[in-house]
Amino acid sequence: MATRTLEADAAELGPTGRPRPVFADPGPLEAHGPARIVAVCNQKGGVGKTTTTINLGAALAEQGRRVLLVDFDPQGALSVGLGIQPHDIEATVYNLLMERGTTPHDVLIKTRVHGMDLMPSNIDLSGAEVQLVHEVGREYVLGSALEPVVADYDVIMIDCQPSLGLLTINALACAQGVLIPLECEYFAMRGVALLMETIDKVSRRLNPKLEIDGLLATMYDSRTLHTREVLANIVNGFGDKVFHTVINRTVRFPDATVAGEPITRFDSGSMGASYYRELAREVLERWRQTGDGRGG
Ligand SMILES: Nc1ncnc2c1ncn2[C@@H]1O[C@H](COP(=O)(O)OP(=O)(O)OP(=O)(O)O)[C@@H](O)[C@H]1O
Ligand SMILES: [Mg+2]
Repeated sequence: MATRTLEADAAELGPTGRPRPVFADPGPLEAHGPARIVAVCNQKGGVGKTTTTINLGAALAEQGRRVLLVDFDPQGALSVGLGIQPHDIEATVYNLLMERGTTPHDVLIKTRVHGMDLMPSNIDLSGAEVQLVHEVGREYVLGSALEPVVADYDVIMIDCQPSLGLLTINALACAQGVLIPLECEYFAMRGVALLMETIDKVSRRLNPKLEIDGLLATMYDSRTLHTREVLANIVNGFGDKVFHTVINRTVRFPDATVAGEPITRFDSGSMGASYYRELAREVLERWRQTGDGRGG
């Protein structure tokens, strides 16, 4: 009998080892905007930044939020993941940052997801990092460029490149929240101290509104001991900042990228889609708790 009780208790714990709350659908917003700007950031490569930006964005759009995704990586993976071919793009975020006459509306593209728009990028953006160094107010160029459309959206998510250079600093300098994906692999925590230090410096020197929205464990595989250990380690280090929602490793994510669609459209009934829908509910609940109207 005692064993059964223990098993029942264990069943209520989520993969992060904490009791898993139920996150309800928040219901529609009465009015839209101004957007909460969220930088999806980790200087470690391949941890799920772009996958999270696309799929969380699409899941938030399903919740009736108006979403703008900004591809802020010269590799253009976010654009490709939404079916936009970099060589087809006339105006990109690069033009928006560097050319006076370019407005956000010249750059915006509607995606196939209702309510979700994209500002695409391609390799041109790699030039901006160098050119921006000479600008006055070089950390605020992205923030100023986005200003005219902040009122049109509920959420603007910026997919950062795997570096802590000037482009990423621009994203942090205009964001209210940072979302940090961490891959459940050995060395997941390597570099996180530097990332935290950078976020702390930006919030002290450039942007006092900046806060950490949460750390997201990605590519989790409950069958392997080491991913369970890595996740336990992450929770140990960051406690409540770690989202209860954990993204499992599944080949459907790369498949969806190849198809140029979020998983919520590519395979709407899949587990992968349900993880990001759950994350959207959790994120909205966190925003609501911090008094941010976008939570609903
Ligand atoms: N949960 C997952 N399960 C399996 N594969 C995943 C998962 N999340 C992402 N991937 C795959 O891992 C690779 C890296 O993911 P992604 O591009 O999202 O990472 P990133 O942090 O944006 O990388 P970069 O630092 O290069 O920008 C991609 O091929 C993606 O399809
Ligand atoms: Mg990426």
